[in-house]
Amino acid sequence: IQRYHVPDASTKSIPSTYIEEEEGLGGDGRRWEEEQFTAAIFKPGAKDAKRKDEDFDLLLDETIDFAEALQMPGTSEELTPQLTSAEKRKLTIEETRKSLPVYAFREQFIEAIKQYQVIIIEGETGSGKTTQLPQYLYEAGFCEGKKRIGCTQPRRVAAMSVAARVAEEVGSKLGSTVGYSIRFEDCTTERTMIKYMTDGMLLREFLNEPDLASYSVMMIDEAHERTLHTDILFGLVKDIARFRKDLKLLISSATLDAKKFSRFFDDAPIFQIPGRRFPVQIYYTKAPEADYIDAAIISILQIHLTQPLPGDILVFLTGQEEIETVQEALTERIKNLGSRIKELVILPVYANLPSDMQVKIFEPTPPNARKVVLATNIAETSVTIDGIAYVIDLGFVKQTSFDARSGVEYLNVVTISKAAANQRAGRAGRTGPGKCFRLYTAWAYKHELEDQPIPEIQRTNLGNVVLMLLSLGIHDLVHFDFLDPPPHETLVAALEHLFALGALNHKGMLTKLGRRMAEFPCDPSMSKMLVASEKYECTEEIITIAAMLSVNAAVFYRPKAMIIHADTARKSFWSPGGDHLTLLSIYNKWKETNFSMQWCMENFIQYRTMKRAREIREQLKGLLERVEIEPKSSTDTIAIRKAITSGYFKNLAGLDKSGQYKTAKQRHTVQIHPNSCLFEDRPRWIIYYELVFTTKEFMREVMEVESNWVQEVAPHYYKSGDLEDPTNKKMPKQRGKTKAELMQ
Ligand code: CDP
Ligand code: MG
Repeated sequence: IQRYHVPDASTKSIPSTYIEEEEGLGGDGRRWEEEQFTAAIFKPGAKDAKRKDEDFDLLLDETIDFAEALQMPGTSEELTPQLTSAEKRKLTIEETRKSLPVYAFREQFIEAIKQYQVIIIEGETGSGKTTQLPQYLYEAGFCEGKKRIGCTQPRRVAAMSVAARVAEEVGSKLGSTVGYSIRFEDCTTERTMIKYMTDGMLLREFLNEPDLASYSVMMIDEAHERTLHTDILFGLVKDIARFRKDLKLLISSATLDAKKFSRFFDDAPIFQIPGRRFPVQIYYTKAPEADYIDAAIISILQIHLTQPLPGDILVFLTGQEEIETVQEALTERIKNLGSRIKELVILPVYANLPSDMQVKIFEPTPPNARKVVLATNIAETSVTIDGIAYVIDLGFVKQTSFDARSGVEYLNVVTISKAAANQRAGRAGRTGPGKCFRLYTAWAYKHELEDQPIPEIQRTNLGNVVLMLLSLGIHDLVHFDFLDPPPHETLVAALEHLFALGALNHKGMLTKLGRRMAEFPCDPSMSKMLVASEKYECTEEIITIAAMLSVNAAVFYRPKAMIIHADTARKSFWSPGGDHLTLLSIYNKWKETNFSMQWCMENFIQYRTMKRAREIREQLKGLLERVEIEPKSSTDTIAIRKAITSGYFKNLAGLDKSGQYKTAKQRHTVQIHPNSCLFEDRPRWIIYYELVFTTKEFMREVMEVESNWVQEVAPHYYKSGDLEDPTNKKMPKQRGKTKAELMQ
């Protein structure tokens, strides 16, 4: 076993300036503890073929035990040499397709699906489930009779990139035979036979086509991710399969939840695709990291300087901002090192990545260079990048969590589960033996990480989904067929919120307003704001604001060398009234320049973010037409803010005597985010767009309001006592509609 080598000053290949700059890297560099990671080793080559005959022939009612797999010996000598990206490039599409593990099981798979209505597919990430199975079905004639094959993905980027890849494999233009559909973007036509879509989009399709009549097969992919939408889809498709006997269902998952899925789908057979995985050496830090971002950057450089090529690096970070920070710092350091080191190609991957950037992650690494992919947990299973030999795992993930009692929704950074950590490590062993560097201690891994992640349905706000289920006519939510049920109080909180928004009446039935709100692929607060813009005659402005809030990405960039200029530019857009109006003003000024890229650059604004906002805005405009709201424009900033308040009144916070912000209803202490234009003004009452928990609970995108506005837009929600000085008040008691009434 090769020890992870920390470079010191005597190592010739390390430029001396590097040592000087990186004090501490040479002498007391990171110390690693190592451990062999031996999960699921399958030997490739001839033996693999033999195994296939012996063990995997009858896959339908026999699955290989994980513990058994752990016993299988595997040494590096037996492994085939790693195929470099460049070599892979030489393979034709046909050869690449045939090289995937699923290929050997093509016929058996088709046989199985002809025989059974529902099949659970289990296979290692990268074995070809997502890209190949829909194609096999297509080739086997499952689209005859003009029916489609659908495949859901939990993430936008995955849906788009996979569709692009499959279109290429099929040899058609993206959007014709193979297409995709994601929120605010539909890239399909009548002729589309293989349709990739986000799970959220399929959920929306149920509104128009409750029996999924246009599909012959539906594949719910990445089932193990257990996203909220995927979990709801399980219940819906299971129900449909009962009366649509011709609809085939595939539930595919990367890890070992297959048995659970099988049980849920009335003991559906499990089709297991044996994956190839090479041994991955695991290293832990000896002591916890104080600054894990810095630790990550140093680790990247250490690997790059000491480890042989080829072998790309994959780093797991928590979000776009963090990725950009690392990208910038890394670029800077590489620049300082100059031509003395081999080229390092830095590529970011996150959910909101613009499509032109997505293509780049799959491009082969140039010879004599190394690729470092800075990713969120999207690269855990949804997106497979070839050639990764080193994984750096920081051990964190950004997650929403919902406190039903206080009604507060957070976006916070939490530690990952053991399952996720192992999945991440496994990414290093896809094309050859690899190494995984965990920036946490072995002790932390054993004692601080949960075994499995908590399914999203059990930790998130359900407002959106409840509204959707109600519009599908499913009123008995308590008895809905959940794989794992959400907490009762979360369901109640969702119903209460919808009631406060006016989407439900006191009997818990959808109102006309609720039905209009359900047309928007947005959360209920935003949908309500959009509908309310009709009353305040400011639809044009509200859809701009909604679009800008929805891009969920930084609008401004701050290059280190030009921070002062960037901040001056940023401040020049600040509008009285707050961040929402600032976003509006940015968009409108950009529009005046005829959506100029040059203008964005001059003002330190992310052109891509703006372009996406513009696309979303167009979509929202179309949706407004559907609910018959005429576009009207207004310059009245009070009317605009009242429309926003109509949706977000719940997020009211007031300044108390001690100079702190407290949420009006639940007395939560919160802070204005330092990036906000109201950070210094500190108005008496504000409404925030979202709460983000980092070191403190920060309100992001805030606007100034008057307390009587919330009574105007939601008279039943706040009692006058709520709107007095928050310091003089005790915790409010349970209020409003009784739960029993709402749950009927
Ligand atoms: O779904 P599963 O994880 O089993 O595998 P897949 O996504 O179908 O990927 C199979 C192969 O296609 C992998 O080698 C990927 O690298 C490749 N692929 C690609 O080249 N470009 C994409 N956009 C998606 C996958
Ligand atoms: Mg997949």
